[in-house]
Amino acid sequence: MKDKTFLMIPGPTPVPESVMLETARHPIGHRSSEFSAILKEVYENLKYVFQTKNDVFVFTASGTGAMCAALENLVNPGDKVLCLSMGNFGERWAKIAESRGAVIEKIKVDAGQVIDAQVLQEKLAQFNPKIVTLTHSETSTGAANDVKTLCSIIRKHGCLSVVDGVTSVCAMPCKPDDWDIDVLISGSQKGFMAPPGLAFLTANERAWKVYEQCEHPSFYFDWAAHKKAVADDTTPFTPAVNLIAGLNVALKMIKDEGIDNMNARHKKHAMALRAAIRALGLQLLVKDDSNASCAITSIVPPEGISVPDIRKTLKNDYDIVVANGQGQLQDKIFRMGTLGFVCDRDLIGAVGALEASLQKLGHRFETGAGVQALLKGLQ
Ligand SMILES: Cc1ncc(COP(=O)(O)O)c(C=O)c1O
Repeated sequence: MKDKTFLMIPGPTPVPESVMLETARHPIGHRSSEFSAILKEVYENLKYVFQTKNDVFVFTASGTGAMCAALENLVNPGDKVLCLSMGNFGERWAKIAESRGAVIEKIKVDAGQVIDAQVLQEKLAQFNPKIVTLTHSETSTGAANDVKTLCSIIRKHGCLSVVDGVTSVCAMPCKPDDWDIDVLISGSQKGFMAPPGLAFLTANERAWKVYEQCEHPSFYFDWAAHKKAVADDTTPFTPAVNLIAGLNVALKMIKDEGIDNMNARHKKHAMALRAAIRALGLQLLVKDDSNASCAITSIVPPEGISVPDIRKTLKNDYDIVVANGQGQLQDKIFRMGTLGFVCDRDLIGAVGALEASLQKLGHRFETGAGVQALLKGLQ
């Protein structure tokens, strides 16, 4: 059946009809009082979702734009930046830092592994960086760092922590004010249940002190311009007004569900999916549940069955889209997103479809084992 696509990729993610309908209305003027009223709610509700008392800026950009908005306002040439890399998105921080002339070092782990607190302690003592970048949920592998522990270590060393929460905010507890996170960024097309095109950043007082020393802050993403705009319920430039109107509806849905409940829903879904995958006799890239992202699950295909065949069968027979691995993990894993507007029904359908696809491709297991394990996890 066509026109019934279920996106199980880690973004863009499914968007509620009420959010889509809001974005379909005629654009309104971005300096109108009507739009200011929308922005006022959006700024307030973003603080709730980000669980911070600090402002949350909204950029018309993708998540990478927010990453640039972080480092381009903090880094001077020659500054030392330590990049904690679990995969592609950890590497992206390093590339952006290098583009600003930073002297970088990395802690790199194998695909599926997370950053070790002891290794971080030693590296901080040896390299003594000004800024440390890290990824909460590494979308390319499905591994999730213990951001609370890592950021408390970074704080104790007097460094600034800059955290990528692109696939963790909404999906996993992430509390900048309580967890010593100095800068946190995210994007609309992930847990926020909104279309792609908006990116978010929040920074605390420690980060603002570093911003003040930045010799050439970004023009488009300049924090001071955005801070003034937030205070006036506006934006510095013409924003994607329709996306912001849609986001306003999505944020109210998040508030109605409650951020803790939303985090709990994601955890339940991710853990139930992991149980289902194990019951089907497949390997998970991230072995330990406590290191697993609640947004994305990376799965190793069974011997003799290829990732492209699994993806093609799920798409052609069931109109379910799952992601391939990225870079060196291409065709080695497939990734199933459980991020944003996802309910039990979606997962039951997806695991049922995965069982049927695997059987068609010749993998042998007890029919229904995956769905049964999933249902148990969903209780
Ligand atoms: C963890 C993480 N960081 C950054 C990005 C980059 O976001 P975008 O593709 O919206 O620029 C993504 C996108 O998937 C991501 O998953």
